[in-house]
Amino acid sequence: QNLVSSCKLFFPEDPVKIVRAKGQYIYDEHGREYLDCINNVSHVGHCHPDVVKAAHEQNQLLNTNSRYLHDNLVDYAKRLSKTLPEKLCTFYFLNSGSEANDLALRLARQYTKHEDVIVLDHAYHGHLTSLIDISPYKFRNLEGQKEWVHVAPLPDTYRGIYREDHKDSVLAYANEVKKIIDQAQKKGRKIAAFFIESLPSVGGQIIPPEGYFQMIAEHVHKAGGVFVADEIQVGFGRVGKCFWAFQLQGEDFVPDIVTMGKPMGNGHPIACVATTKEIAEAFADTGVEYFNTFGGNPVSCAIGLAVLDVIEKEHLQAHATQVGNFLMELLNQQKVKHPIIGDVRGVGLFIGVDLIKDQEKRTPATKEAEYLITRFKREYILLSTDGPGRNVLKFKPPLCFTMDNAKLVVDKMDEILTGKTVRLIFSSFG
Ligand SMILES: Cc1ncc(COP(=O)(O)O)c(C=O)c1O
Repeated sequence: QNLVSSCKLFFPEDPVKIVRAKGQYIYDEHGREYLDCINNVSHVGHCHPDVVKAAHEQNQLLNTNSRYLHDNLVDYAKRLSKTLPEKLCTFYFLNSGSEANDLALRLARQYTKHEDVIVLDHAYHGHLTSLIDISPYKFRNLEGQKEWVHVAPLPDTYRGIYREDHKDSVLAYANEVKKIIDQAQKKGRKIAAFFIESLPSVGGQIIPPEGYFQMIAEHVHKAGGVFVADEIQVGFGRVGKCFWAFQLQGEDFVPDIVTMGKPMGNGHPIACVATTKEIAEAFADTGVEYFNTFGGNPVSCAIGLAVLDVIEKEHLQAHATQVGNFLMELLNQQKVKHPIIGDVRGVGLFIGVDLIKDQEKRTPATKEAEYLITRFKREYILLSTDGPGRNVLKFKPPLCFTMDNAKLVVDKMDEILTGKTVRLIFSSFG
């Protein structure tokens, strides 16, 4: 009665009331254990003891805003800078991914003195007014697209406009952005930024082809804009072989601004914007101070440092690669067996399973995906869907997810998809 109806629950017909969690497991009020395959916020594992300890110890000493000197803030900025290319050496600390992207937008506009933004179709960059405006996933259902926002096609080589059989899909997708820039400029508009999630999640767990970011950055820079990599879901080693997902594009690629959030505090609200000295200085030149009451407080920074320590100490990047590769292998075996699985794509523990109704048109199997999620829940496995057709099963578990967990989920998937009832149900979906 007292909560807004626009806040949605998972499984609204039979919601789960959870009371505690540990590692990759969460427990409901009856003590039932669920395997969590989707919580990319509890990055190093729910309630990781080292993170809880760091928070508790710092809470007992001091927590305040960042108008005083404090080692945690400086240490944390230094540690983060070691994970990034040298040029991204200036940090702003904030409380949520939305705050980070909103600040990135302000920085881009202040630095370039331009207004317009290019985003990918179906993107989501946050819930603030400024970010709803640059999130087609949201604004398409609201009053629509602002004149300063330009939407580029998703570089999706499975169901996008240029597919795996195209002779140069990277160039073709990059040319779409170039066309957008040219058209905007013809109307006298000026590009401030290109915003992209390094691996588009809401768009359907998309892996942009290698080299795409470099080409886009060249066009955007030529137009006087900056490149913003949103790492709010996919950063901090989830992809395994690199710490940041934009690094999958190659060492020669460096964004101008990187935004971080969700996994950064393992559940504690902490976020960050990393940028270059030039951009930060252009922002400071206005003379208007940047103050954020909670951003960069000693407790948040102690937590952030503990998360980085755990990633290193427990070799979670290597683990994400090993478990992610194993899970992809098992899912690909399922793909051969079950025609409903059209595509399995991913890197590290960021994996999507694209469910289709027919091989030729690749029509999204939306209802079937929803049915599968409900069946998984009955087996105490929490999964969810993404993509404009809500037909892509997404795996983004805490990084402590194991090979046994992967095997269990895929065995269950096989069991459900092989079941006689499910075949009958799926055929009746038509
Ligand atoms: C890619 C991306 N950017 C930004 C945000 C906004 O982050 P927050 O909900 O912490 O404000 C989200 C949240 O889902 C996200 O997925």
